[in-house]
Amino acid sequence: MKIVINEKHEINKLVSNEIIRLVKSNPKAVLGLATGGTPLGVYEELIKDHQENQTDYSQVITFNLDEYYDLEPTHKESYHTYMNDNLFSKININLDNTHFPDLNNPESYTNLLEQHRVDFQILGVGSNGHIGFNEPGTPFESITHYVTLAESTRKDNARFFNSIDEVPTKAVTMGLNDIIKSKRIVLIAFGANKAQAIKQLVDGAESENWPVTILKRHPYVTLYLDKEAASLL
Ligand code: F6R
Repeated sequence: MKIVINEKHEINKLVSNEIIRLVKSNPKAVLGLATGGTPLGVYEELIKDHQENQTDYSQVITFNLDEYYDLEPTHKESYHTYMNDNLFSKININLDNTHFPDLNNPESYTNLLEQHRVDFQILGVGSNGHIGFNEPGTPFESITHYVTLAESTRKDNARFFNSIDEVPTKAVTMGLNDIIKSKRIVLIAFGANKAQAIKQLVDGAESENWPVTILKRHPYVTLYLDKEAASLL
């Protein structure tokens, strides 16, 4: 596992440059995408590059990690809306090539992922070590499934809603066994509240109590950390 510790803006540049290089060399690249605060700077860099250099996303295929179960896709905090607002509407992606977990048939997403293996998966991490919405205790063999969000996750995400009561309690997420099949994984962590999860990943043993530790099994992972997220290493 390669570890890069750098400033946020440098990390956003490094990760976006890797995605841009991939899309230029493989116009049909399959990208695994995350939402939340962490990847926003990377998406901004992709948009800037698209505007300046017309990098072509018309054939790129995307799979998002997760979606809230109890929000309409048109809700302003749904991950559909997040992706449209923060990336899809600002590059020339074909929306037919963008995918989210099927809220009525989660397993079908795993079948789809088997047909389109993800070339590049971008991940954030929860303060409790979740990736996607695979909360602590999720089996490493899990495929796309329904989840009940941990209270700590609902608290972490309350900043996007008017109050914690509005934060959904359920979601559908790609499973850990889906995520680990990606050819390349980049995990970004910013801030001191991610430091414990990063320490478990780097220095701890594989454990379903810290879902992120499944990444220890993957041959081609890079962690991009700011100083705060790396502070316990
Ligand atoms: C989002 C996702 C989550 C987030 C994690 C960190 O699609 O799958 O695992 O990456 O909750 O969220 P932020 O980036 O808001 O700290």
